[in-house]
Amino acid sequence: MNDTVITVENLRKTFAFGFFRRKVEAVRGISFEVRRGEIFGFLGPNGAGKTTTIKMLMGLIFPTSGKCELLGGRVTDLAAKRRLGFLPESPYFYDYLTGRELVDLAGRLFDLPAAVRRRRGDDLLERVGLSKAATIPLRKYSKGMLQRLGLAQALVNDPELVVLDEPMSGLDPIGRKEIRDLIVSLRAEGKTVFFSTHILSDAELICDRCAILVRGQLRDVGPLDQLLSPKLLHTEVVLECNGLKEAKRLAPDEDVDAVLRAALESGVKVVAVQPRYEHLEDLFYREVEAEKRAS
Ligand SMILES: Nc1ncnc2c1ncn2[C@@H]1O[C@H](COP(=O)(O)OP(=O)(O)OP(=O)(O)O)[C@@H](O)[C@H]1O
Ligand SMILES: [Mg+2]
Repeated sequence: MNDTVITVENLRKTFAFGFFRRKVEAVRGISFEVRRGEIFGFLGPNGAGKTTTIKMLMGLIFPTSGKCELLGGRVTDLAAKRRLGFLPESPYFYDYLTGRELVDLAGRLFDLPAAVRRRRGDDLLERVGLSKAATIPLRKYSKGMLQRLGLAQALVNDPELVVLDEPMSGLDPIGRKEIRDLIVSLRAEGKTVFFSTHILSDAELICDRCAILVRGQLRDVGPLDQLLSPKLLHTEVVLECNGLKEAKRLAPDEDVDAVLRAALESGVKVVAVQPRYEHLEDLFYREVEAEKRAS
């Protein structure tokens, strides 16, 4: 069995638009692989080229040059598409359908028999927390409900590979946690999940590997723990004296023990000591700043 489910090699996309055919290099020669069974986060600031890359992977637009493959075949290969689930960035659904009808319609597009569509539709609506809204027309759904429904339709064919463009967008913290849990449960079922996001804390919580895209170029690809340096950024110490709290930020080379000893000896209470290591957010800003300086 092939262990690579997405292959991207030196992929480029240059858009030409407007009367003067102005050129925008949206994706500038990127290469990476997504392996079977992993949760892969595709990260980057607004306009980095995430959606453009995903559209090329889905066969919706064509690369200017380079190669992309899905499930061992060409992206236009229908057999591969049957094993793929996709949530677009801003999905548009027919307003007058109900949640159940929309998932059923998605199932029909995959030629699923009626009994399978009914069973899977109920299961998926339950799984994304929309069972009670199953018979309500979509024009009455909130943004978060539409996003969940988008996920349900992406799973209707029980896909091996799920590609999600900003699955957490429009969701409140509880909704985001539910989607994170859902993505993790998909991995537990052996599926591969590739998703884009700029909500770094979400990516940090669930991704096995990440790619960071800045202005159409990949800055980093790899397992999170390898991308993040184990470097201590600073230590935050909170002291309390006469009911007043004060937070101190100690540089990595400062002697934390000495500061704590001096505080305790002078009768000051130590409330908290928090070493702060690099987070995905720090790495992200570091890469975006480096790219800005380079250009
Ligand atoms: N059809 C198009 N014609 C011209 N330029 C385009 C087109 N689609 C995207 N672009 C440009 O390509 C660049 C990358 O856009 P893309 O939508 O891929 O970014 P993104 O990383 O998905 O951003 P976001 O986080 O905002 O969704 C942007 O500069 C955008 O303006
Ligand atoms: Mg996008």
